[in-house]
Formats: sequence, structure tokens, C-alpha cells
Amino acid sequence: MNLPGTVQLVEVGPRDGLQNEAQPISTADKIRLVDDLSAAGVSCIEVGSFVSPKWVPQMAGSDQVFAGIRRQPGTRYTALTPNLKGFEQALQAGVSEVAVFAAASESFSQRNINCSISDSLKRFEPIMAAAAEAGLRVRGYVSCVLGCPYEGEVPAAQVAGIAAELRGMGCYEVSLGDTIGTGTPGATRQLFETVAQRMPREQLAGHFHDTYGQALANIYASLLEGISVFDSSVAGLGGCPYAKGATGNVASEDVLYMLNGLGIHTGIDLDALIQAGNRISAVLKRPSGSRVARARNSNGKQ
Ligand code: HMG
Ligand code: MG
Repeated sequence: MNLPGTVQLVEVGPRDGLQNEAQPISTADKIRLVDDLSAAGVSCIEVGSFVSPKWVPQMAGSDQVFAGIRRQPGTRYTALTPNLKGFEQALQAGVSEVAVFAAASESFSQRNINCSISDSLKRFEPIMAAAAEAGLRVRGYVSCVLGCPYEGEVPAAQVAGIAAELRGMGCYEVSLGDTIGTGTPGATRQLFETVAQRMPREQLAGHFHDTYGQALANIYASLLEGISVFDSSVAGLGGCPYAKGATGNVASEDVLYMLNGLGIHTGIDLDALIQAGNRISAVLKRPSGSRVARARNSNGKQ
């Protein structure tokens, strides 16, 4: 078995997770979540997004979250930025880096960011220029890489083309998003094989929503493909407002438990991560979406 010795987990719960919550969540609770995560040793946290508050109301006030967090040295605090307006706000808020997000399907691109795929890439150009000037790195996302809620199957070659364009524009890493969680391990391996013909595997990441319960298997399949960066969401928070029925990302605790079992280093403390997930689950008044956390909690072990 040829598995990486170290994996970088990108914690997207405060953004991908909370963006989908209908109930109000206070800025203090959001700040607490980010601080709990960094205290657990999470070294890259997507804190929020600078998008239109009409489109995603829960992410309004991301600047206040950035203003309130206790920044740990060595931890990266990131945010989504769909356009230059969002980038400027993010810069002002003191982000460590930003992420732009495109889709592999035209219908999802229209529903999510109100423009075509090619227009979205054009919109990213001034962000890339401004980020370079500010000395900030830009991460890229491609959504709907293993299926689209409106168009169904999405050809891997189409994903590869967009991922390569994002890299060509200067994204240091491209995260492939299974937005609706329909991907299976075989399709995941095929996808990475196809995309890796257009860009290095070291610059690819996996972002698996767990709607069909396939996410951990897909991460394992990705590890076998030489991928070593994965996005996950503490307590399995979230979903996507523009992918009806999609559940949250795979729970960070469950990914960490699997990686620990494989002897793969992440720098994250499982017990502290479970506590972070339990605390935000209590705020949301529901049990944690992490199987590992639920098992530990029912054992009386926090
Ligand atoms: P639009 O309506 O076409 O934009 O939306 P516009 O430029 O015509 O502006 C309309 C209004 O929005 C104006 O305000 C702008 O000022 C304002 P008004 O004059 O009407 O009062 N506006 C903004 N306000 C704050 N911040 C901004 C901003 N930009 C414009 N940055 C837009 C286009 C992209 C803005 C909109 O569609 C949008 O915000 N979409 C965000 C959608 C989103 O956040 N989706 C979830 C994240 S993606 C995801 O979850 C997938 C991922 O996890 C990977 C995966 O799972 O696959 C990443
Ligand atoms: Mg997502």
C-alpha cells in the first residue's frame, strides 16, 4: 500500500457547514468554533465567505468572525471570494488566503453564482491579480465533479479542463468537490487519474459531501491515487444551499479517526476535535453528524 505519511485536512465546517443553517448562529458561536478548531491543532480553517448576503445570509458578518478569532501562529484562516468585491472585503478582514469557486456543470454555475463557467473564470482574473499584489495565495474549487443536481453525470474530462484552467490562472491547489455526494470509489479514482493528466496530484485536493455515505471510501480511494489534502467539516456540518438535499461534508472526526488508524499524521487531536464538534452541535441543538463523536459520546467519553 502506498499511502502518504502526512495529510493536510482543510476544515470547512465554519463555512461549508454553517452556510447551510437556516437558524441564526451568533458571531460569538462562530468565533468559538474557529478557536476550538485551531486549539485542536487544525492548521487550515475556512472561516467564512465574502459573498452576497442576499444569496447566503448565514455568511453575512464573516468580517466580524475574522475580527474576533484568536489567531494561532502557523494556522491559515481562509475565505471564499466569488468576485473582486468579495476579495477586497476578505483582504480587509485579514484572511491568510482566499478561495475562488467554479463548477463543472453550467446549470450549477448559474444557480450558485449566477453566471456561466467561462464568465466565472473571467471574474476570477482580477482576484488573481489583486491576490498576487497582496501576496496572498488563491485556492480553487470545482463543484459537481462526480455529478450535478441539475444535469446528472459530469464527464471527468470536463472537470480536468476547468481544474487545469484554475491552475493556469495561478491557483496553488484545486479542490475537487463532490457537491451532492453521489461519487463512488471507482469513479473517484477515475476522476483523479483523468485530472492528474492535466496537473500534478500534489496540487489536487478532495472535497466529499457525504450524502450517499460514500465520502470516507472516496477519501481512501483518493489516498490510493496519491491525493493528500482533504476538506472536511467538523460534526459533519452543512450542505450547499444550491444543491437541494445535499448533506454536509464528511465529518472531520471520522476522517481523522480513519487517518489515525492508517498511521497518517495530521497534527490534529481527536478528542479536542470531538469536543469542538460537540460544542457546535449543542449550539445547533442536534446530535453531532460524526459517527466517531456519537460513538465516543455514548461511551461517556467526551
Ligand atoms: P449577482 O446578483 O449576479 O451579483 O450575484 P451582482 O454583481 O449583480 O450584485 C448583486 C448584489 O450583490 C449587489 O448588491 C452587489 O453589491 C452585491 P445590491 O446593489 O443589489 O444591494 N454583491 C456582493 N455583496 C457582498 N459580497 C460580495 C458581493 N458581490 C455582489 N462578494 C454573486 C453574484 C457571485 C455575488 C452571488 O451569486 C453570490 O454571492 N453567490 C454565492 C453563492 C455561494 O456562496 N454558494 C455557496 C458556496 S459554493 C459551495 O458551497 C461549493 C463548495 O463547497 C464546493 C463543493 O461542495 O462542490 C465550495
Ligand atoms: Mg462543499
